[in-house]
Amino acid sequence: MNYIAVQDSRIPKLGFGTYRLNGNQCVDAVRDAIEMGYRHLDTAVMYGNEAETGEGMRQSGVPRHDLFVTTKLWPDSLTPVSIRKTVSESLKYLKSDYIDLLLIHWPNPSIPLEDTLGTMDQLRQEGKIRFLGVSNFNIAWLERAEKTGIPIITNQVEYHALLSQDKLLSWLRDRNMFLTAYSPLAKGRLVYHPVLQEIGKKHNKSATQVALGWLVQQDGVAAVPKASTDEKRRKNFNIFDFELDPEDLERIALLEKDQRFVDLPGIAPEWD
Ligand SMILES: NC(=O)c1ccc[n+]([C@@H]2O[C@H](COP(=O)([O-])OP(=O)(O)OC[C@H]3O[C@@H](n4cnc5c(N)ncnc54)[C@H](OP(=O)(O)O)[C@@H]3O)[C@@H](O)[C@H]2O)c1
Repeated sequence: MNYIAVQDSRIPKLGFGTYRLNGNQCVDAVRDAIEMGYRHLDTAVMYGNEAETGEGMRQSGVPRHDLFVTTKLWPDSLTPVSIRKTVSESLKYLKSDYIDLLLIHWPNPSIPLEDTLGTMDQLRQEGKIRFLGVSNFNIAWLERAEKTGIPIITNQVEYHALLSQDKLLSWLRDRNMFLTAYSPLAKGRLVYHPVLQEIGKKHNKSATQVALGWLVQQDGVAAVPKASTDEKRRKNFNIFDFELDPEDLERIALLEKDQRFVDLPGIAPEWD
């Protein structure tokens, strides 16, 4: 339950999100997260913290092959030349010979997706990237990616108890791909959610833990919450020792499911 099996790898369902963690705060947060058991880290070129993420990984002392690190290409660097340049910088910042998972952060209609994925796939074959994926893709974009025949393993999108991703999830599951839930706490809005708090009381868990447990208890769903403090990171990690029952699931299913908190007008595709 704690992992998603992809080929001969096990990807931890719970990752640590690093957006808005910068400088030493990011180094310390990544190191502490790894020390308390996180093995999956989520960064991006756009976050400006790949070097700090890499430094936190190094300081943790955990062998590189025991960590799974995702980074993402911003839509302005999706041409073959830009991708090669960006990836070589990311590798340098991450202090690593390879990236576990490279995502296209947002689709870019003005650069042919086929060329972008083709270059990413070459880098995979060269051993610089282990897995490829996308982020903020709708089904139409995913279908275009699928036509290339280049294997992608995940679509990272906003997903939490207040936003349905049923359509996307079933598309991904049909193809044995997983969904990585970003902003899994609805950017903190679920922390004091009364229904989740009530459900949590029954299991001796907080609303936050219920929100994350609800995600990772689903087939083919991973989640990457961000937390700036040791206490929050620890709580978020402590979600694999309880199970929501059918009544809990029913109550969560009845929450409003159209609350999207991340959108980039002009860049975002038409959401499913
Ligand atoms: N692919 C994309 O386009 C995309 C977009 C957005 C995010 N992401 C990824 O997803 C990650 C998470 O998303 P997010 O940062 O937007 O939102 P989030 O994880 O849903 O929420 C983060 C907020 O919740 C608070 N929080 C976390 N754990 C808590 C706890 N146990 N108790 C109380 N408060 C808690 C955090 O507090 P603090 O302020 O103290 O940290 C922060 O304010 C990002 O870091 C990034 O890696 C990807």
